[in-house]
Amino acid sequence: MVWSGMDIGPAAAGDFPAIRDLLRSCALSADDVDGVGAQRFLVARESGELAGCIGLEVHGEAGLLRSFAVASAFRRRGVGAALHDAAVGLARGLGIRDLYILTTTVRERALRDGFEDVERGSVPAAIREGSQFNGQCPASAACMRMRVP
Ligand SMILES: CC(C)(COP(=O)(O)OP(=O)(O)OC[C@H]1O[C@@H](n2cnc3c(N)ncnc32)[C@H](O)[C@@H]1OP(=O)(O)O)[C@@H](O)C(=O)NCCC(=O)NCCS
Repeated sequence: MVWSGMDIGPAAAGDFPAIRDLLRSCALSADDVDGVGAQRFLVARESGELAGCIGLEVHGEAGLLRSFAVASAFRRRGVGAALHDAAVGLARGLGIRDLYILTTTVRERALRDGFEDVERGSVPAAIREGSQFNGQCPASAACMRMRVP
């Protein structure tokens, strides 16, 4: 389902307080979310209001999708799907070949999107050494990979 009020683009520096609030409201970690270094963030807006966000950590030809959240008032309208597609497109444009996620909540959805379960040991070290793999996501989270289409 395509979200009709589409306004998805890079997060501006001033978006990050609202992004962190959104992530925390979804019980997702936000302490290291600032859009600098390896992080790229996309946001979905409707009438100027932050509807959702997704983060991409860039590590050479590997990327980590993270911090995927849609505010409850905007859910089940395809905002999440549009953010996911935009992030995959961003990854493709950056030359990323493999995308990884850690998730406790959207494994079934990720399977439908083309991710498959992988062993944590198979994840590139640059991603494994990051905050998501070191305390910000529980050890029980599914670890998944998708070849960028
Ligand atoms: C996961 C999350 C980002 C999805 O956001 P979303 O905008 O609701 O996603 P979508 O609208 O694309 O899809 C959600 C569901 O709505 C359905 N849907 C999409 N558009 C729809 C529409 N117009 N009408 C009815 N249903 C619709 C989808 O089929 C999907 O159903 P499914 O999950 O049973 O397959 C959101 O639920 C969220 O923020 N959850 C909490 C944070 C979280 O767990 N993040 C993931 C961390 S790894």
